[in-house]
Amino acid sequence: MPQQFFKGLFLGNLKLVMTKVISFISRKGGSGKTTNAVNLATTLQSRRKKVMLVETDTNYTLNSLRKLELFKRKISVDNNFPIVGSEDNRVASEIEILRKRNDFDYIIIDSAGKTTDQGIRELCLESDMVIITTSLTQNDLLVAYQTVKDLLPAKDIKPDLKLYILPNRIHSHTRMRTVREVLKHLNADLIDTYVPQRKLYTSPSTIKPEKRYRSVATQIIKHLNE
Ligand SMILES: Nc1ncnc2c1ncn2[C@@H]1O[C@H](COP(=O)(O)OP(=O)(O)OP(=O)(O)O)[C@@H](O)[C@H]1O
Ligand SMILES: [Mg+2]
Repeated sequence: MPQQFFKGLFLGNLKLVMTKVISFISRKGGSGKTTNAVNLATTLQSRRKKVMLVETDTNYTLNSLRKLELFKRKISVDNNFPIVGSEDNRVASEIEILRKRNDFDYIIIDSAGKTTDQGIRELCLESDMVIITTSLTQNDLLVAYQTVKDLLPAKDIKPDLKLYILPNRIHSHTRMRTVREVLKHLNADLIDTYVPQRKLYTSPSTIKPEKRYRSVATQIIKHLNE
């Protein structure tokens, strides 16, 4: 059967929406939302998925990074996934429209650390999966705990919302069993792997996929499709 058939299945006037929305959310600045959003986007692009990356950080860091990378690589025509800027108060309605157009396999949202309660709630309701990034430091854990608590009511409205914790900046010798043990009180499911603290993650690319992120991306998509 042609692949196009699956991309946007038409049944009379009914178009089955296939776009999946993955939002990185945390109340804590610097917990790894941007790092993971961009690595997931480049990895999925390398798997020939149609990706859009949306950033609600009004500094538009990723947009600037893309421009810089194109300049450095002397690329004049940008054939990479689009990076679109948005804001807290309009991102949910914009996603709703994009989702209906069904032009992308994945829309990945890199939300700003300062997102308001209202913004977070609306974003959750437009997402298929929300990923909360956290390290194992006590401060990060407390904020992650609070973020999960704030997001859980969204599951009452949208029971199929997937709410996951992604351990980030973990010492690379840490056993997964230890990570699970530390995070088990957070009341959310755990992506069954972690992102180690590595220098390579301090300068992400919006173009070139990071090989070592493959297994993380695979786990995220596996959980999304469960
Ligand atoms: N796994 C990692 N290993 C090493 N450094 C990391 C890792 N994850 C994030 N960092 C670094 O930590 C800093 C904060 O990460 P990042 O910008 O992804 O956080 P954020 O949650 O998007 O922050 P903000 O809320 O300010 O947008 C960055 O300098 C980044 O390079
Ligand atoms: Mg960020």
